[in-house]
Amino acid sequence: MAVEPILQIRNLSKTFELKGADNRVLDRVNLSVDEGEFVSIIGASGCGKSTLLRIIGGLETASGGEVIFEGSAVSKPSRDRGFIFQDHRLLPWLSVIDNIKFSLPPNTPNANEIALEKLAVVGLSGFERRYPRELSGGMSQRAAIARALANSPKLLLLDEPFGALDAITKIRLQEEILRIWNAEKITMILVTHDIDEAVYLGRRVVVMGKGGIDAIHRIELSSPRNRVSAEFARQKSAIYKAFFGDLEAPFTYTI
Ligand SMILES: Nc1ncnc2c1ncn2[C@@H]1O[C@H](COP(=O)(O)OP(=O)(O)OP(=O)(O)O)[C@@H](O)[C@H]1O
Ligand SMILES: [Mg+2]
Repeated sequence: MAVEPILQIRNLSKTFELKGADNRVLDRVNLSVDEGEFVSIIGASGCGKSTLLRIIGGLETASGGEVIFEGSAVSKPSRDRGFIFQDHRLLPWLSVIDNIKFSLPPNTPNANEIALEKLAVVGLSGFERRYPRELSGGMSQRAAIARALANSPKLLLLDEPFGALDAITKIRLQEEILRIWNAEKITMILVTHDIDEAVYLGRRVVVMGKGGIDAIHRIELSSPRNRVSAEFARQKSAIYKAFFGDLEAPFTYTI
């Protein structure tokens, strides 16, 4: 018997009203995600990536269609579906460990142990008493990942989580996320502007355009993935082409 996908997006539409005019951002989007999958979503700014992620997370309501998570329609946020944003969103008046404990349900037994364990997972052991202002951008984002993991999500929704980091830190955190994905078997959906990142992390790359999904690329790469391999370059070039056309042709600039 085929296993049901963990997430099913069916005919999902979203219209925002702005100054009396309707702006249809998502138009009957369909997508299924299998348990344990890693799906990357890329697309031009404003095409609705964050809106889609927020509806999956239950932070935003749909105008039509539905999102089914583990067999039930999503209508509100749940600890099963964790979120990581571009900014860490740590509470500045709480230490790192208290930020994590604050995100847990009240009176969670072993809250301290859970928080320390997840800080260890993201390489922040020893920094638990620091305040967010005492952390670098990369460390803050690690803390945000630990906070999301503390709630044992089955699905992790990542909205440009590394977009504000320098290139080196970004690569380190991509490796961390892959390691966590492998170890914890959490289904992940990552929105990114970075084609390299989308291909390196995603087992499928969803390309969004105006109103919805333009194409879905399955990324077949030997494991572990190698960022500088020829096969990686080939997979990437297919996606670059989807955006920019034939890269063999010279670009022409009009100034
Ligand atoms: N709360 C809102 N009210 C009105 N319009 C909104 C709202 N949220 C998003 N939009 C509009 O919906 C469209 C899609 O926004 P969204 O943030 O999902 O895009 P995005 O693909 O994530 O863009 P980016 O890559 O820049 O983050 C935009 O035109 C935006 O202005
Ligand atoms: Mg966005």
